[in-house]
Amino acid sequence: MTAAEPRREWDERAGVRTSPRRRLGDELRRGQLFFPPALVPYFDHPLTGALPGHQRTALLARHLYQYLGFTAQFETRVVNRATERIAGGRGGTDVPTATRLDAYRIYVDEGYHSLYSLDVIDQISRASRITPAPYDFGPFLARLDEVGERALPDETPLAQLLQVVVFETLITAILNDVPKDLRVLTVVRDIVRDHARDEGWHHAFFSGFFRELWARQPAALRGRVARCLPGLIRSSLLPDLRPVRASLAAAGLRPAAVEDVVRDSYPAGRVDEDIRRASRHAVRLFEETGVLDVPGGREAFESAGLLR
Ligand SMILES: [Fe+2]
Ligand SMILES: [Fe+2]
Repeated sequence: MTAAEPRREWDERAGVRTSPRRRLGDELRRGQLFFPPALVPYFDHPLTGALPGHQRTALLARHLYQYLGFTAQFETRVVNRATERIAGGRGGTDVPTATRLDAYRIYVDEGYHSLYSLDVIDQISRASRITPAPYDFGPFLARLDEVGERALPDETPLAQLLQVVVFETLITAILNDVPKDLRVLTVVRDIVRDHARDEGWHHAFFSGFFRELWARQPAALRGRVARCLPGLIRSSLLPDLRPVRASLAAAGLRPAAVEDVVRDSYPAGRVDEDIRRASRHAVRLFEETGVLDVPGGREAFESAGLLR
């Protein structure tokens, strides 16, 4: 493992060590946005465009809550489930103590990301009086776990490590674009920027970790790992449409209109293109390490639409 630089810098750079608690100021009165409209695929659909202004505002607030609520759950229930294995020396591959310490640092980071995600939902919902809908992460997690269980039935810890390698090497538009939109609430831009900074070195750590893990896999398992990864990528990035439908219904759209908006706003081609774009670094990592060269590897990535 060669994550020397991030390790040295964590005490000076990690958000949990250096950033203050982010607070909502008085920006709601000034009409700052909850979330960038460009990142909400259904926001400009004619049926949502025709809604009254306060309902459109609430759509953006609920989209923010959904993103933060998902993050709060994902970090602790998926990322830290596997990161704790590495930290505890149960990652299925011998790692030096320095790597275990880094894994504990990431564990702390992810716990902190969950904390401020829920904190900001709480601050904004109190001040705006726009209530977050209850969010059940269970179905998303079940779908993600099922991909690993099907491809690697007797290798649950390995499948969970791969989930995290995949997720931590994805680059989503939200982390990049939210901080740049000056119309968005400062507290939202601040926590997304804080988060993106931490994720930069998580990305480096998990890329290095995967290289080690892959190098130590017996040949018999490599094919199964290679064929499992595309499904993990897709199930991590497929939009979760249940909360979208609930939000559109809460805005006053009838069931048939909700379905029209969802169908028009998430066409398969656009979803696939977004998945390809967000996973390009992960796919490059798997190409460099030789994952695509094992029998069936390239075909699995190709048929998942991940290669250009
Ligand atoms: Fe995170
Ligand atoms: Fe992370």
